[in-house]
Amino acid sequence: MDVTKFLPLDLFAGRVVFVTGGGSGINLGIASAFAALGADVAICGRSADRLAGAAEQLNGFGHRVLTQVADVRDAEQLAAALDASERSAGPADVVVCGAAGNFVAAAENLSPNGFRTVVDIDLLGSFNTSRAAFDQLRRTRGALLFVSAAQAYLPFAYQAHVGAAKAGVDSLMRNLALEWGRYGIRSNSIVPGPTAGTEGMRRLGDVAGEETWTSMVPLGRYAELEEIAAMAVVLCSPLAAYVTGAQVIVDGGQGLSGSALFNNAVGTALDKMPDAVPDRVPDAVPADAVSGTR
Ligand code: COA
Repeated sequence: MDVTKFLPLDLFAGRVVFVTGGGSGINLGIASAFAALGADVAICGRSADRLAGAAEQLNGFGHRVLTQVADVRDAEQLAAALDASERSAGPADVVVCGAAGNFVAAAENLSPNGFRTVVDIDLLGSFNTSRAAFDQLRRTRGALLFVSAAQAYLPFAYQAHVGAAKAGVDSLMRNLALEWGRYGIRSNSIVPGPTAGTEGMRRLGDVAGEETWTSMVPLGRYAELEEIAAMAVVLCSPLAAYVTGAQVIVDGGQGLSGSALFNNAVGTALDKMPDAVPDRVPDAVPADAVSGTR
């Protein structure tokens, strides 16, 4: 899908869009859609090399492109990145909190630091970004967009850390919609389904298998990056001027089919790994084996 066929080329002309995690995947797809519709784009991430590659792609749209190296877990780095972006391009009209981390791990094998790392990147990182962007967004009466996940509202096995983090992100999104509406700031999230060409799907697709994912999606296929990005730009545009506090699901219907196929596929894959839990109960747990019934 090419958003420029459906939306005016100057929809974001003269606007500044700041995207965390913008060096790759869905976030780069979102940054590209904004740039295609006239925006100046600042992308922020941990790897200067990755940002440089992404900037080359974004430069093709002919608008200003800035790169800022910062780790969203570090509030001071984030504030410095947003300040630098404002000094070069002006205050942000749109801020996308997209930086995220993910891996599959059984909860009983997950270290406290592993759990905290994902919560820190996704949730604390989203807070740090929105908090640091507040002053700019207040002046532009701008929009915040969080990149959430189905794990926020549906438990997926081996994703306890991700579920906690993304549920927190959606809660933060709603809180900020409530508190910052009076400043004219809108706050929404999108929930992408399995999306082709992203690191997240490389990680989850490798373990669960592509067929597992596509059979979980009523539309029967992965999303294209552009399909996720299209909803992102609409939500941050005047077309959604009265939309705030919304969790918008863009998943081909995947959330409707639950997570059982994923849970079984990943469970089988993890069982074959060297650090598999040895005494996993494979079948149903009999009633008289439940604690307190003997
Ligand atoms: N299984 C279990 N634990 C894991 C893990 C895995 N596959 N990968 C990392 N961890 C744990 C580490 O063991 C460590 O905990 P410990 O100190 O108790 O051993 C903790 O997570 C931090 O790992 P580290 O590699 O130091 O963190 P990082 O900040 O460099 O990396 C991650 C962050 C872990 C999220 C990493 O996967 C990452 O950088 N991902 C970025 C991209 C990404 O995930 N994209 C997908 C977006 S959906």
